[in-house]
Amino acid sequence: PKDKLLFQELLGDGSSWGIEIKYKSQTEPKGIPHIFLFIESYIKDSKIALILGDNLFHGNKLISTLKESTKSSGATIFAYPVQNSNRYGVVEFDKNGKVKSLEEKPQNPKSNFAIPGLYFFDDTVIEKVQSLKPSDRGELEIIDLNQKYLDEENLKVQVLNRGLAWLDTGTVDSLHQASSYIRILEHRQGLKVGCPEEVAWRNGWISDENILELAEPLKNSGYGNYLIELITNK
Ligand code: G1P
Repeated sequence: PKDKLLFQELLGDGSSWGIEIKYKSQTEPKGIPHIFLFIESYIKDSKIALILGDNLFHGNKLISTLKESTKSSGATIFAYPVQNSNRYGVVEFDKNGKVKSLEEKPQNPKSNFAIPGLYFFDDTVIEKVQSLKPSDRGELEIIDLNQKYLDEENLKVQVLNRGLAWLDTGTVDSLHQASSYIRILEHRQGLKVGCPEEVAWRNGWISDENILELAEPLKNSGYGNYLIELITNK
């Protein structure tokens, strides 16, 4: 809860980017699926995407891959090859590519496919979370929620292609790696990665004038200049 204000100050209510952002904080560390129990009224009967704040995704065809995922019923999660899969949720496939098992941070992983922190769920997610039992560490586990969809044969696991980058930023070292990745790309291309004003503008949620207004207080920085150049170099 103490960080909520900082996020609110940084991102606002989303209106300047043509979107709506609402905030809820989890007051106790009761696990990732626990959040669904107090955002129920926001979900209604829509599908929902969940992304963990320390996960970073980037790459060609990422958006189309994700849009495709929202079309399936049930839940869609992803698999991504990593060297140290024991640090993550791990998915094992059989010879036909069917999901065989899901395990959270196994000591001896059955595959090198980690499950990234990005999940799409249908509106049965609430009732499934309500029936979850806390694990030994006293938390509701995201892997157990995914297992429920798997038991119902309603879990799609999509392998992310190797051209996509999935990085996590949960340790000093991994945050440094992610920063280097973004820095190299931004320097090489002169294009920003994950600039919310640009994303909103390219999606047509805000106008040229809106971008220039947003750039005004930032115009003595490289960031403000970048926004202005989006319009002037159009
Ligand atoms: C969580 C999930 C794990 C997932 C990972 C992705 O772990 O429990 O299944 O693979 O996020 O970042 P955490 O890193 O929060 O311990």
